[in-house]
Amino acid sequence: MLHEEEKKTVLAYLSPYLGNEDVLKMKDFIQHGTVSTYDHALSVAFTAYEMAKKYRGVNMEELMAAAFLHDFYLYDWHEPDKSHKWHGFHHAKRAADNAKRVFGVSDAVYQAIYGHMWPLNPERPPLSKIAWILFLADKRVSLKETIDGKKRKVAEEIEKLEENELVTQ
Ligand SMILES: [Fe+2]
Ligand SMILES: [Fe+2]
Repeated sequence: MLHEEEKKTVLAYLSPYLGNEDVLKMKDFIQHGTVSTYDHALSVAFTAYEMAKKYRGVNMEELMAAAFLHDFYLYDWHEPDKSHKWHGFHHAKRAADNAKRVFGVSDAVYQAIYGHMWPLNPERPPLSKIAWILFLADKRVSLKETIDGKKRKVAEEIEKLEENELVTQ
């Protein structure tokens, strides 16, 4: 867990991105369960920051850019559309290209975003420190979001069953 001061530090690193209109579009796209891509990106940035405290020589500015923009692919992958097919395989490049186009990110940030879906993209292993931290932070956050989503669904099902029970009693 991060302290309030640390959270403020992360948000200061993200300030070049937070108000951008393309970034704000991520609020309308769902990542996992009911979590928007924007909130997912924030969680990955906080988690990456926490993990990076254990390592020396991490370029925090680049890590925060890569973490926050790693899913900057700008579409809802749940919507049936030909271009969203194979989302898992293609979105990392799309996000890296968008990050380069909109914010002119460095090659290190580009490569970290480009490689974050390894081993699904086996030819793009995370080769730098920031790429590894992003990869691990994303997996950790995604797993938690997916499990929380499933738990919520089960709770809703139980609630429905209980309501039915009351109605039929
Ligand atoms: Fe992703
Ligand atoms: Fe992600």
